[in-house]
Amino acid sequence: MTFSITTTSSEETESFGAAFAKVLTPGSIILLNGTLGMGKTTFVRGMLKALEWREVRSPSFTLVNEYYSTIPVAHADLYRLKKVDFRELGLDEYSDDGWVVVIEWPDRLTSVPKLEGFSVLFKGNENDAFLRTIEVHPLDDVSRDICDSLDLENWRP
Ligand SMILES: Nc1ncnc2c1ncn2[C@@H]1O[C@H](COP(=O)(O)OP(=O)(O)OP(=O)(O)O)[C@@H](O)[C@H]1O
Ligand SMILES: [Mg+2]
Repeated sequence: MTFSITTTSSEETESFGAAFAKVLTPGSIILLNGTLGMGKTTFVRGMLKALEWREVRSPSFTLVNEYYSTIPVAHADLYRLKKVDFRELGLDEYSDDGWVVVIEWPDRLTSVPKLEGFSVLFKGNENDAFLRTIEVHPLDDVSRDICDSLDLENWRP
């Protein structure tokens, strides 16, 4: 089921990212939506900490960063592109090879052929520069079941 949580600092968004890492299975696709500076890369940093990888940088210039974490992760940032094909970037191959594929600015994609995973939406608040609402939307039945069983809404320690 779709749910949303709120965070009030980048540390909290990282912690939620770390909790979210439990949903990941090889080949999962995670679409990170939300405007500039809403915390997408911060969330990925937390996710990767949980997967024992500590060097997460925004892949704005490289387009795709590879992390050799406990589950390998390909981290794409498509901001600078107008429109791009999922396959053209080789993202389908990463996914087929068992990599988790995390995509910032997925609205640049002409289409996503295989929808197994999650869409996560980051929203700000005009009255509080540190408040973020993070909505989690499973994209398929398996992801919905995983999400329900983990009770991620209660991610706070
Ligand atoms: N609750 C919060 N969660 C996450 N980041 C926050 C929060 N409050 C403030 N921030 C700040 O917002 C910024 C988030 O930056 P980040 O690079 O993660 O955003 P992004 O969504 O990846 O942006 P871009 O689209 O440019 O890649 C950081 O400067 C961080 O310190
Ligand atoms: Mg980013």
